[in-house]
Amino acid sequence: MKKDKGAVVVGCGAVGPVHAQVTKECQGVHLVGVCDIIPERAQRLAAEYDCKAYNSYAQVLMDPEVDVVHICTPHYLHAPMAREAAQKGKHLVIEKPFAMNMKEAEKLGTELLAQQVKVCCILQNRYTPCIQKMKEIIGSGKYGAVKGGRGLLTWQRTPEYYRSEAWRGRWETEGGGLLINQAVHLLDLMTYLGGECAGLSGTIANRTLQEVVEVEDTAEATLYTKAGQILHFFATNGYCANTPFDLEIILEKATLHFQDNKLYLRQEEQVQEIATNKVTQKGKAYWGNGHWNLIQAFYNALQGEADTYTSIADGVAAVQLVDGIYRSAQTGKHISF
Ligand SMILES: NC(=O)c1ccc[n+]([C@@H]2O[C@H](COP(=O)([O-])OP(=O)(O)OC[C@H]3O[C@@H](n4cnc5c(N)ncnc54)[C@H](O)[C@@H]3O)[C@@H](O)[C@H]2O)c1
Repeated sequence: MKKDKGAVVVGCGAVGPVHAQVTKECQGVHLVGVCDIIPERAQRLAAEYDCKAYNSYAQVLMDPEVDVVHICTPHYLHAPMAREAAQKGKHLVIEKPFAMNMKEAEKLGTELLAQQVKVCCILQNRYTPCIQKMKEIIGSGKYGAVKGGRGLLTWQRTPEYYRSEAWRGRWETEGGGLLINQAVHLLDLMTYLGGECAGLSGTIANRTLQEVVEVEDTAEATLYTKAGQILHFFATNGYCANTPFDLEIILEKATLHFQDNKLYLRQEEQVQEIATNKVTQKGKAYWGNGHWNLIQAFYNALQGEADTYTSIADGVAAVQLVDGIYRSAQTGKHISF
């Protein structure tokens, strides 16, 4: 039997506890410890999971028990932390976004591919039951080819959310706002299901948080797929609640509609519920509870099974969509990939 991999979760803020819980529950991994520069955060999570508490990243990388590092820190730290860990031979699970912008993503991607380590880029929404079902139906061709689609995200990020952590809401440390942090998931799914993106036109605005952040809280874009279809995207952080995102893909003979964490298949007047996403204790249901399936797929690959997790190429492609909308908004031009 192969030995379980030793994992450390770095960053014990909002998403770190999800990774701690997942590594406790998945096969092929054991949680060695958690790390945060705020000692109480690391200690609290370590006590909950009965593991080590580290207060510096250097300590984590020096520990021979550690095979895999989960990077759950602010965006500006993803690239330097990933680079350092890979140089020390540690495998990586990197929370989205893979990097802060396209230049950084391409450089980091090239560097990591040259190392003998595996890298999982978290885009967990692909791994929920509803989205997997959508992918399977589209791939089967049973209802014909994709004709088009739309994605809608209406979430709420309050002034307190941005003020609670200094890195949020700043170009220098978050790399943007709504697009790079929240809507990146929806953009990824739109192209994962609707077809690879050949180019896009988009705009950004700050409509509700002008006094609070320098980045965008609202964005829209028209995505053109390589196969010639159009996907329409709208997202805002200025809504009054966090509603699970809404994604519709129109096929030649049916419509697939993901809404309220359920998947519906519509054919003329008939509507059928065909999948439901489960709600779990850790994290928020509207984030998409796909961390379990994705991270399990990664540890299966580390035990010798096929690579079915979201890769560096997937992480870079998601950054490309975000980066493309920022460039289109800045120049007023269509961006081709
Ligand atoms: N996949 C998802 O659905 C999802 C959901 C939320 C957040 N995220 C992503 O997770 C990452 C973290 O976001 P968050 O909201 O949890 O942020 P957060 O600010 O709540 O937590 C980040 C933690 O990292 C710690 N930290 C900062 N510098 C550190 C260092 N040098 N060493 C160790 N720890 C350090 C901070 O003290 C903080 O506790 C981001 O990339 C974010 O986009 C993903």
